[in-house]
Amino acid sequence: ARTVKLAVIPGDGIGPEVVTEGVKVLSEAASRHDVALDTTEYELGAKRWHATGETLPDSVEDELRSQEAILLGAVGDPSVPSGILERGLLLRLRFSFSHYVNLRPVRLYPGVTTPLAEPETDDIDMLVVREGTEGPYAGMGGVLRKDTPGEIATQDSVNTRFGVERVVRYAFEKANARPRAKLTLVHKDNVLTYAGELWQRVVREVGVEYPRVSVDYCHVDAATMFFVSQPERFDVVVTDNLFGDIITDLGAAIAGGIGLAASGNINPENDFPSMFEPVHGSAPDIAGHGKADPTATVLSSAIMLQHLGLATAARQVEQAVAEDLNARAKDGSERSTAQIGDDIARRVAEQG
Ligand code: NAD
Ligand code: IPM
Ligand code: MN
Repeated sequence: ARTVKLAVIPGDGIGPEVVTEGVKVLSEAASRHDVALDTTEYELGAKRWHATGETLPDSVEDELRSQEAILLGAVGDPSVPSGILERGLLLRLRFSFSHYVNLRPVRLYPGVTTPLAEPETDDIDMLVVREGTEGPYAGMGGVLRKDTPGEIATQDSVNTRFGVERVVRYAFEKANARPRAKLTLVHKDNVLTYAGELWQRVVREVGVEYPRVSVDYCHVDAATMFFVSQPERFDVVVTDNLFGDIITDLGAAIAGGIGLAASGNINPENDFPSMFEPVHGSAPDIAGHGKADPTATVLSSAIMLQHLGLATAARQVEQAVAEDLNARAKDGSERSTAQIGDDIARRVAEQG
């Protein structure tokens, strides 16, 4: 029997509600493969910050480093100034643990309603590979002449050759393994000429090693249009941190809503634990009412299983979610967060 050391960070808002269901389904799937979960829960987020002023103490980061994977709900709360928890906890973990791949599948499951005009399930099946450690997220820049009419705020986008190349290479590997073998670089090289040219050149150079992969380019503004009008254009998408953030909320919307969108913050070399979390945030508007859809967290846990080498278990969770979504389309009755988790866990248990 294998034991997986799993850190759980429920976080804020609906985070604890959805993470409970994620762990429920994960435990069911793992137990069927003789895998035991050794979970440790970490109380991080708004409550801790109010009590102690801490976002992520060094000692906790060290403990997390020794875990095999992290499941995170969401962070951010209206009672905490914007950015404190987002930067001090979430981004700090992504940066410290070198989660340079932020993997965000955009898939329309059968039966799921999409706002697109003529949706066909097969038309929406892409994998967004969002860079996770650089870009405008890096925290470079600052404020000059604060509170004067001449105030200047800069927020520099960091793009290193090393950082761009490693995520582009990962995206080529993913594209190469998919039937369509298409890779689209999404950027804004007509305006962000320095960074855009670096991304273009790296894609061109790495692409030589992947002759089977067809390469395409799309400006990010046009990409938002094509996500809606021609989603079938996209197979694997590689893009910078900020563009990837924005287009994956759009991706969530076309594929049935933010409650279904999963992600993995991955360190492919396994030098550090990877972290899995829904694309959505803490949803303070619905927190505490058992209304949140835990499916995004459950699908994120499937990405975790895949990353941990438990591919069959991952497939079983995805299959259970697909069945649940299809049943939901036919039935239509409202279920609570816990009921959805129970139903998916039961479907995992029932699989042959
Ligand atoms: P949000 O994703 O929390 O909410 C946007 C809308 O989607 C809300 O109406 C919400 O009710 C709905 N929603 C989100 N998840 C849902 C679910 N599982 N089921 C049903 N409906 C769901 O985004 P926001 O409102 O922009 O941000 C709220 C807070 O979350 C902010 O503090 C923000 O910084 C933070 N945030 C955190 C993360 C993260 O931890 N990874 C991601 C995004 C935003
Ligand atoms: C996400 C979130 C985060 C991001 C925020 C909360 C830092 O929006 O995971 O998509 O921008 O990456
Ligand atoms: Mn986001």
